[in-house]
Amino acid sequence: MEKLLKKAEETHELTKEEIVSLLEFPFTFNSSLFIHSDRVRKKYVGDEVHLRGLIEFSNYCKQNCLYCGFRRDNKNATRYRLTEEQIIGFAKDAAEQGYKTVVLQSGEDPYYTIDKMKHIISEIKKFDLAITLSIGEKTFEEYEAYKDAGANRFLIRIETTDKHLYTKLDPDMDWQNRLKCLDNLRELGYEVGTGCLVGLPEQTLDSLAEDILFFKKINADMIGIGPFIPNANTPLKDALGGTFELALKVMAITRLLLPDINIPATTAMETLNPNGRLIALQSGANVVMPNVTQGDYRKFYEIYPGKICVNDTPTKCRGCITNKIKSINRSISTDYGFRRKISKNCF
Ligand code: 5AD
Ligand code: FES
Repeated sequence: MEKLLKKAEETHELTKEEIVSLLEFPFTFNSSLFIHSDRVRKKYVGDEVHLRGLIEFSNYCKQNCLYCGFRRDNKNATRYRLTEEQIIGFAKDAAEQGYKTVVLQSGEDPYYTIDKMKHIISEIKKFDLAITLSIGEKTFEEYEAYKDAGANRFLIRIETTDKHLYTKLDPDMDWQNRLKCLDNLRELGYEVGTGCLVGLPEQTLDSLAEDILFFKKINADMIGIGPFIPNANTPLKDALGGTFELALKVMAITRLLLPDINIPATTAMETLNPNGRLIALQSGANVVMPNVTQGDYRKFYEIYPGKICVNDTPTKCRGCITNKIKSINRSISTDYGFRRKISKNCF
């Protein structure tokens, strides 16, 4: 294992078989895989943690993914949409709290037309914020309009690179189209974020290794990895779900192979482990996305159960995460936190 990790740390290359053997190995926290990935994180992206203020602006979704609480067939969800003015207002408050990026996230909700989104984006740009969108599959023209309006980055997880599994879990959706979205975003000059779910039914370690190699192949700028957490209001309610440990390993190996990208310590990781985000930050992650949505909406944004901070305020979360980050001798970045692009495959 040590030889493999040394190779990964020095060359940022691993074969699929090597990745699988790392995923199989029962590393504990603080053990060698995580020491190596933490060292790579420190060398390439430093000790600063980038905070992105997350605005959860609509939980309506026209899709029907079997794992997700937003799926259109979930009649138990309380649906909401924020007004344009609410979204802009939350972004303004986030900027005043010191955020340099806001992430606008929603289900796939056609209510937000190109004109509405352009208005929201161009108003938010006035607050000197970088904008990340996480709103799902759109046409090239839509992505282009948002980019022209001032959006900088886009998150769209591939969820799994196993096409067969994807087709089963995301009915009516086309894996090839998701790939095309990632291509289009790249072509338009967005910073591109993707990622996967860990612990989906029938997902194998081999398939997770493929996911990691896919992130490398498309040279993603950001990778979000989270455990799949079964939601009682979905067809996968009785599934086992992913573990914190496996999600952490997938994240750590991703850091070894993509040394200079931005990797969030995801909320889903903290849902499974009360120290999940700090452990992730010490195992390769360098980003946290605190929730800046105000009021009761957080509660209703229930992709999976047990989400953290649903009864907290943006001020509380900002203070809490600041203290946590300081407690591990890391600092909070005051810049926009774009990818630094210093690894050799990025020039
Ligand atoms: N558990 C954890 N994460 C989930 N997502 C969707 N459903 C679940 C679940 N049950 C993730 C998907 C999506 C992101 C917004 O939430 O990866 O891209
Ligand atoms: Fe919300 Fe800790 S980040 S209370």
